[in-house]
Amino acid sequence: MIQAALERLKQGGLVAFPTETVYGLGADALNPEAIARVFAVKGRPASNPLIVHVADASMARQVVAEWPPEAERLARAFWPGPLTLVLPRAPHVPPDVTAGGDLVAVRQPDHPLTLELLRAYGKPLVGPSANRSGGVSPTTAAHVRSEFREDEVLVLDGGPCRGGIESTVLLVGPPAVILRPGLIGPDELGLEVATEGGPSGASPGQLDKHYAPRTRTVGIQAEDWPLEGRVALMSQHDLDPPAAVFLSMPADPHGYAEQLYARLREADASGCDLIAIVVPTQSGHVWDALRDRLRRATS
Ligand code: TXA
Ligand code: MG
Repeated sequence: MIQAALERLKQGGLVAFPTETVYGLGADALNPEAIARVFAVKGRPASNPLIVHVADASMARQVVAEWPPEAERLARAFWPGPLTLVLPRAPHVPPDVTAGGDLVAVRQPDHPLTLELLRAYGKPLVGPSANRSGGVSPTTAAHVRSEFREDEVLVLDGGPCRGGIESTVLLVGPPAVILRPGLIGPDELGLEVATEGGPSGASPGQLDKHYAPRTRTVGIQAEDWPLEGRVALMSQHDLDPPAAVFLSMPADPHGYAEQLYARLREADASGCDLIAIVVPTQSGHVWDALRDRLRRATS
């Protein structure tokens, strides 16, 4: 399977790969035609830059113009893992990767199959989430297959993703800024960070409506129940009267994250005319990251 994937990548084709967060849509990060194919297949706006995935920190240093001590420290502490570092771009990285900008996002994903792929390929791979732009990120190979034609995208099946939501995106700075919240929180980073405010996010191209099912989706509080119509309810508690479709969500944040996108896809496929999500109110950085995704899924 790896062999076929390597062939595909060499020809400028697309290979979806598993990571510890969600599946990525892989393509040769240094091949402008492959990059153009990623944007076309996803229907992604050219203004939204791609994350470059690397086998290790030394491969990361090849795509950045500067690798400050802070980047080295963060990479040692969190890689492989769900932390994306945004740093000055090296001149040979095709401008479309960064949406024309001077900064490039890099991360070493934590999945044995994908690390093997990256090492064998020997070059960095872009890896936006392997879904059509604006939709729900895939956390299984079957999710990816449901999004793209087989001749468009070869899928490496590495089982379900454990993390479930996308990486934390950190502008290394200074000043350091969290551009997208994720499983790694500001308090764990060991540096002073600003968390971007405002609804649209500081990452270029971060769409307000994102991670969204096709079915109309709303965030509610338990007190808002019941709603009219045939409703798929996603909640940590069953509510009375029972919903047409009930998707029980875990009480712990990591379990919630692991299941979120699969449950959203299930709700979307249930034939209901509304998806209602009781937005969790617990505090903590993983809950904050989950609320960020829920806000975009329901906007
Ligand atoms: O966990 C993840 O990060 C997954 C897996 C597959 O690695 N990938 C992912 O990629 O979520 P994508 O393309 O769906 O989201 C990339 C995010 C976007 O919010 C984008 O704006 C931001 O990273 N980003 C990418 N390059 C950037 C740059 N040069 N400057 C600022 N933000 C950037
Ligand atoms: Mg995405």
